[in-house]
Amino acid sequence: MALIEVNNLSVRFQTPDGLVTAVNDISFSLERGQTLGIVGESGSGKSQTVLAMMGLLAINGTAGGQARFDGQDLLTLPDAELNRIRGNRVAMIFQDPMTSLNPYLTVERQMTEVLEFHKGLTHAAARARAVQALDAVKIPEAERRLGMYPHEFSGGMRQRVMIAMALLCEPSVLIADEPTTALDVTVQAQIIALMRELQHDFGTAIVVITHDLGVVAGLCDEVMVLYGGRVMEQGSADSIFYQPSHPYTVGLLGALPRIDQGEQALVAIPGAPPNMAHLPPGCPFSERCALAEARCVQLRPVLSADQTPGSDHGTVLRACHMSADHVRRHAKEVGL
Ligand SMILES: Nc1ncnc2c1ncn2[C@@H]1O[C@H](COP(=O)(O)OP(=O)(O)O)[C@@H](O)[C@H]1O
Ligand SMILES: [Mg+2]
Repeated sequence: MALIEVNNLSVRFQTPDGLVTAVNDISFSLERGQTLGIVGESGSGKSQTVLAMMGLLAINGTAGGQARFDGQDLLTLPDAELNRIRGNRVAMIFQDPMTSLNPYLTVERQMTEVLEFHKGLTHAAARARAVQALDAVKIPEAERRLGMYPHEFSGGMRQRVMIAMALLCEPSVLIADEPTTALDVTVQAQIIALMRELQHDFGTAIVVITHDLGVVAGLCDEVMVLYGGRVMEQGSADSIFYQPSHPYTVGLLGALPRIDQGEQALVAIPGAPPNMAHLPPGCPFSERCALAEARCVQLRPVLSADQTPGSDHGTVLRACHMSADHVRRHAKEVGL
């Protein structure tokens, strides 16, 4: 049994415009020590997917389907039990550390409270463990910095504090929602290297959410590409990177700065993400897709396995009317 098994997860919001389906029928599984990347532009449903799993949807939202963690369906678990899992066996970090750090409490107080609550440690034991955790995320002079308030740390250091907090209870799963988006490129690379190291050392399974496919490279085993709340393409990181078979994935890859082209082959996907309250009946990406035909706008493509023989990157799921070969030829034409 996989550590996490999400089946047909959906998230719907009651809005003045009617019912909005922000996440539509998403399934994935995650094994111990594995990393899954959830990728897509702003508004594609990345955050709501994991917030639903954690029981943290806004009041007007409801989740459907199943999200099993270690065999238990998180979507139907009573709050008290979910509280015991959250921040303990499943930890979350966010783009803005100040959403998980309390500005009015020292780092010491915040870290020791977590350990006293979830692990029943004495204050002295919790303090020692907190110092260790800051050491593990390479915060220099951990002992001294424990007494500082969050605002006394730089952006990158604050992100490290948040990761240390998240890892305090040695979670089996770490969910990282845009963990590096607010950081400059150098610090970004350090945080990604750190996550990779922690995963290696502790076998933590990671779900990393990002709008930047570049973050996913070298960190993820599996990648799920979302658009308009639906899976466009899902498979091994290698297949997504080297043999993308969905025009949206091709668009995201084309928008990455390329070292071989002087870091500037940035071709943003034309147009803007869709209004979730008014999606076309067919493929949500059809309005912006370079390959779209009339049927793409009218008829929703079903997510199904790529049948192309000779693919050497395992099973790829894709939702596109075009053949995978056709899309891959297009990818070559645009220089991928
Ligand atoms: N409280 C809410 N009420 C109505 N719609 C919401 C609410 N929260 C999120 N949404 C919708 O869900 C969509 C996906 O949001 P989200 O998962 O946060 O996107 P992202 O991929 O940027 O993380 C948004 O575009 C928005 O339409
Ligand atoms: Mg988000």
